[in-house]
Amino acid sequence: MFRLLSFDRIESGCDDISDFLTFHRYDDSVTMKLVGSVKEVLGVPVGVVLQLFGEYFFTYCFENGYSEMLKILGHDFKSFMQNLDSLHALLAFSYKDITAPSFRCEEEKDGTLTLHYYSAREGLQDIVIGLCRSVGLQMFGQDVDVEVTHKDKMNVNDTTVIYHVTFAVTIKEVNPNGTVQPMKNLRTERRSSTRTSYCVPPKPIITSEDFCEIFPYHILIDDKLAIRQCGVGILRWTNVTRTTNLRLEDLFTLSKPDMTLTFDNIKRFINANYLLEGRDSEGNVLVKLRGQMVLLTRPDYVLFVGSPRLASLGEMEERHMFLSDIPLYDVTRELVLLNEQRLAEVEVRSASLSSLLLPSSSSSSSSSSSSSSSSS
Ligand code: HEM
Repeated sequence: MFRLLSFDRIESGCDDISDFLTFHRYDDSVTMKLVGSVKEVLGVPVGVVLQLFGEYFFTYCFENGYSEMLKILGHDFKSFMQNLDSLHALLAFSYKDITAPSFRCEEEKDGTLTLHYYSAREGLQDIVIGLCRSVGLQMFGQDVDVEVTHKDKMNVNDTTVIYHVTFAVTIKEVNPNGTVQPMKNLRTERRSSTRTSYCVPPKPIITSEDFCEIFPYHILIDDKLAIRQCGVGILRWTNVTRTTNLRLEDLFTLSKPDMTLTFDNIKRFINANYLLEGRDSEGNVLVKLRGQMVLLTRPDYVLFVGSPRLASLGEMEERHMFLSDIPLYDVTRELVLLNEQRLAEVEVRSASLSSLLLPSSSSSSSSSSSSSSSSS
C-alpha cells in the first residue's frame, strides 16, 4: 500500500503523462522529473535515487529478456564493460535514435581498474555506479566498489560536447558465507593465458606483405593519422593515386562514431563500432568499411580491422565488388548471401500474397457474380 501511494505521488510529478510505455522514447526532462519526485517522496539525495535506478535497471533488463545477451558479454567485469558499447550499438537497431554512452577500461599497474564513461548527458555518473554494482554482483558474484575520481567535458567535433567521468573500481570476491574478500589482481587465470602469445620461433614468420594479403581491410595508423600500412583491399576501392604520405582522412570519412577523426578521439572511443566511408571526387560512396580500432602495444599506433559493409548482392554490384574480394574467413560473405536469400523469400511471399489478394479478371468477375448472387 505504501509503495502504491508513493508511486502515485511520484507519477503526479509528471502530470502531462498518464502512462509510460515500453519502446517509447521520453524526453530526458521527463526522466529527471521522475527522479526529482522520487527524491522528494523518499527524502533521499538525487545521487542515491540514480544509484538505485542503476541497480534496478540492470535487474529489470536481466529479468526481462536480456539475460542471455548479458551473460555472453564478457568473462569478467572488465571484459563485460569493454563490450558494453557493442551491446548499446546492437540495441540501437531496435531503439532508434538512442544516445548511448561509451565505456573504456584501463588496467593500472597495481592491477586495479580505471573506468572511463563518456556521455552526451551530464550528471548521470551515479546511474553507472548502481549499474556496475549490479553487474559485479549478479554477473560475477563480486562486490564492486565504484568511486568518481575525475570529471571533465570535451568537444569531440564542432557541435558535440561529451561529458567524461573517471571511476576507480575496486573488486572484491563475495564468499559463499556472504563475507567479501579483496581480489588480489584483476587478471584472472583465463585473462593472463589469453594475453600470452604463442609464437615459435619468437620472431614473426608472417611478413607485412602476407599480412596485407590475409587482412585486406586493415589500416595501421600512427598518432598523426598517417597510414603506415594497409591491406590490399583498401587501395583497390579508393580513387587516390598517390600511395605515399597518405593520411586516413585522404581515403575515408568517419561516419560512426559521431566525432572528428583525431588520434585522441580514437583512443577515447576505442570500444565503439567504426564505420569508414570511401567516396569519389563527386561524393559518391565507393566503399563502406565497418570494424574496430585496436590499440597496439606501441601506444602511438592504432590498427583498424574491418570488413566491407554490404547489405545485398545489388549493393556489391553497385560498389563493383566481387565475392572474391572478401576473404573466405570473413562472415560478411555469409551475411550478404543470407540477406539475399531472405530478400528473395520476402519477394516470393509478397508475390504469392498479392496473387491471392488480387485475383485474375476472369476469377474476379466470377467472384463478383457469386457475391452479387449471394447478396441477392
Ligand atoms: C540489456 C541491458 C541494457 C539495456 C537494454 C540498455 C539500454 C539502454 C538504452 C536504450 C539507452 C539509451 C537511452 C536513450 O538515449 O534513449 C541506454 C543508456 C545508458 N546505458 Fe544502457 N542498457 C543496458 C545495459 C547497460 C549496462 C550494463 C550499463 C552499465 C554501466 C549501461 C549504462 C547506460 C548508461 C549510463 C546510459 C545513459 C545515459 C547516458 O550516459 O547518455 N547500460 N541503455
